[in-house]
Amino acid sequence: MTQTERAESQPSEPSSGAPSPSATTETLISVKDLKKTFNIGFFKSRVVEAVKGVTFDVHRGEIFGFLGPNGAGKTTTIKMLTGLIAPTSGDAYLFGKRVPAAEARQNLGFLPENPYVYPYLTPREVVEMSGQLSGMKGAALRSRTMEVLTKLGIAYAADRQARRLSKGMLQRTGLAAALVADPELLILDEPMSGLDPVGRKEVRDLIFDECAQGRTIFFSTHILSDVEAICDRVAILREGKVVVMGALRNLLRGDVVRTEITLANVSLELRQTLLNKNYEVTDRAGVVVVAIDGEAQVPPALRMALDAGAQVIELVPKKETLEDLFIRRAL
Ligand SMILES: Nc1ncnc2c1ncn2[C@@H]1O[C@H](COP(=O)(O)OP(=O)(O)O)[C@@H](O)[C@H]1O
Ligand SMILES: [Mg+2]
Repeated sequence: MTQTERAESQPSEPSSGAPSPSATTETLISVKDLKKTFNIGFFKSRVVEAVKGVTFDVHRGEIFGFLGPNGAGKTTTIKMLTGLIAPTSGDAYLFGKRVPAAEARQNLGFLPENPYVYPYLTPREVVEMSGQLSGMKGAALRSRTMEVLTKLGIAYAADRQARRLSKGMLQRTGLAAALVADPELLILDEPMSGLDPVGRKEVRDLIFDECAQGRTIFFSTHILSDVEAICDRVAILREGKVVVMGALRNLLRGDVVRTEITLANVSLELRQTLLNKNYEVTDRAGVVVVAIDGEAQVPPALRMALDAGAQVIELVPKKETLEDLFIRRAL
C-alpha cells in the first residue's frame, strides 16, 4: 500500500451530517499562533524570539514531519506542545484538550530531543518506569517492556547500565519508553539523532510500521532527506516561522527537474558543443557529467554525444527533493 492509499484508507470518524473533510479527519494536535520569546543574559535584557507564531494541525493516522535547520524552533515548539514550557502567547491542543492537560498525556508517547537517562538505570528499568507512569504494572508491563526493547533492537542490552550505552542505544531506549504504553500519538523530537545510516533506516521503518498499526506520528528532524520516504504531510520551519506546509505529494514537483548524463571519451570538440548549448559540464575523476534542465533536451544531447564517439556511463533523471523545495521556497 502506498502512503497515499494508507492515508486515505484511515477509518473515518462517525459523523452525523453530510461527509465533509472536517468530519472525516480527527485533529490530534492543534497549534495556533504559538510564540515563544526567551529573555536571556544577566539582566534578561536580550530577547530571543525562538518561535514567532506557528500554526498547524496533525490529523489522526498521519505521519507529520516537522522539519527545519538547527535553531529553527522545532524543539521549543515541541516543548510547548508537550507542556514542558509555557508559550509566550498562542495555544496548543492535544486530543482537543488545551495543553497542559493531564488526560491528553495518557495517550501520548514522547521522545525528548536529548533524553536524559539516569546513568545507573538499565533500558529495562527506564522502559518499565515509563510504563508505570502510564498506569501499567505486573506481568503485562514486564512482557510489553521486552516486546518494545526487542522491537527497538536493544533487548540484548536490556540490563546494561545507561552509562555503558552508546548514544544510539540510549535513543532506542527512549523510543522504547515512548512506545511502551501503546499510545495513540507519538511525538518524537529528532528520533534519528545519534543513529548510523542503518539505525536511521530502522527508525524510519519503525515510524512507518507504527503508523500502519494505527498510531499517529509527529516527529522533528533537521535532515530533510530522512523524511521524504515516510511523511504524509510536512511543515518546514525556518527562524521560528513555518515557511512551507502541506502534503508531500502536492509540494514536490513530480516531474524530472534535472538529468545528469555521465560520459567518458569526451573530445574537446564535443565538450565545446555541449557548453555552447548552455549545459552544465563538470569534470569528475576522468569522466564528464553533463547536467540538463528537465528531460526534453536529453535525447538530442545523447545523440550528439554518441555521434561524437563518447561513451555513456550513467544517466540519472532527478526529481525534486525536499532540500530543493526548501531552497526554492524558504531561502
Ligand atoms: N531556554 C532557552 N533560552 C534561550 N534561547 C533558547 C532556549 N531554548 C532555545 N533557544 C533558542 O531558540 C532558538 C530555537 O531553538 P530550538 O527550538 O532548540 O531549535 P531546533 O530544535 O529547531 O534546533 C535557537 O536560537 C535557540 O538558541
Ligand atoms: Mg531541536
